[in-house]
Amino acid sequence: MTDVSNETRFLHAIEMGLGAWQWGDRVYWSYGQTHNDDDLRAAFEVTLEQGIRFVDTAEVYGSGRSERLLGQYLKETEQPVLVATKFFPFPWRLTRNALPNALKGSLNRLGVENVDLYQIHSPSPILSTDTLMSGLVECVKRGWARTVGVSNFGQTRMLAAYSALARENIPLASNQVHYSLVSREVEKNGTLARCKELGIRLIAYSPLEKGMLTGKYTPDHLPPGIRAQQYVDLLKKIGPLIKLMTEIGQDHGGKTPGQIALNWCICKGTLPIPGAKNQLQAQENAGALGWKLTEEEIAKLDELTDVIHK
Ligand SMILES: NC(=O)c1ccc[n+]([C@@H]2O[C@H](COP(=O)([O-])OP(=O)(O)OC[C@H]3O[C@@H](n4cnc5c(N)ncnc54)[C@H](OP(=O)(O)O)[C@@H]3O)[C@@H](O)[C@H]2O)c1
Repeated sequence: MTDVSNETRFLHAIEMGLGAWQWGDRVYWSYGQTHNDDDLRAAFEVTLEQGIRFVDTAEVYGSGRSERLLGQYLKETEQPVLVATKFFPFPWRLTRNALPNALKGSLNRLGVENVDLYQIHSPSPILSTDTLMSGLVECVKRGWARTVGVSNFGQTRMLAAYSALARENIPLASNQVHYSLVSREVEKNGTLARCKELGIRLIAYSPLEKGMLTGKYTPDHLPPGIRAQQYVDLLKKIGPLIKLMTEIGQDHGGKTPGQIALNWCICKGTLPIPGAKNQLQAQENAGALGWKLTEEEIAKLDELTDVIHK
């Protein structure tokens, strides 16, 4: 087998990606109402134009529509794109063979022969970590996954996954977890530090806290749908943080709160994958690249978000 330990390096070279949960998802993200396929195509195109080449999807996003849309957009571009997708551990998936079988479906929808990263979406209620990892190993051996990772794995499970793969000489490339200025659990409980130590890329999902860190929502202007209830309490506390992010942004030539939130994730050594519903959002998010917050600014943001949590 080729030396796959080198293969995970590409993930460490990526500063930011694009999340594609919004692509085709009607239930949470109101696809078809707030955005359509043309908006998503434009978001994809502007993302590539800005030099961002890593797209994260999953078989369950829009029940396969996200992968299908990405497949369509991939056909329309000549540019190289790094594709990450995920296996969902439905309780009826009972054996390791479920992984290559599911990946085959993803590859068909994406219209590609292999993906750059294949992730377990979350721990399984049925399959052990060892069984899941042996399914991932099979995907690598068949040449269908360049690298493999996990998502929503706590530190203990992540270490078990790392060891199971290491026995097959395959590195655990990544752990995709919730991480943002107001969701810092993985930083506080040592998972991020452990990832850095072991060369596991921590991919930060919901880095804009599902839009709350852009500053466009307030207790008087709640987000639509499920997010209203989910975030009403946070929005009551977040005002001072948005104010600080706006002030810091002014010192960087007018960067927006959202760009500050994403840059903060990058400065912490993680790979944020903000979702975008349209060209404008994707363009703005790309403006998080090419500059860095100072140590002092990061310390101020950390201090304030510590207080918001209390
Ligand atoms: N592994 C997992 O379990 C898991 C879980 C969640 C997410 N993810 C991945 O992580 C990606 C990102 O997370 P996420 O989508 O949950 O949340 P997010 O990136 O924090 O927020 C995305 C949402 O924020 C708003 N937004 C984005 N850019 C904006 C901008 N520049 N200005 C104003 N509003 C903006 C949009 O919603 P509105 O316009 O409607 O406000 C957008 O849908 C997902 O797409 C998915 O790939 C993975």
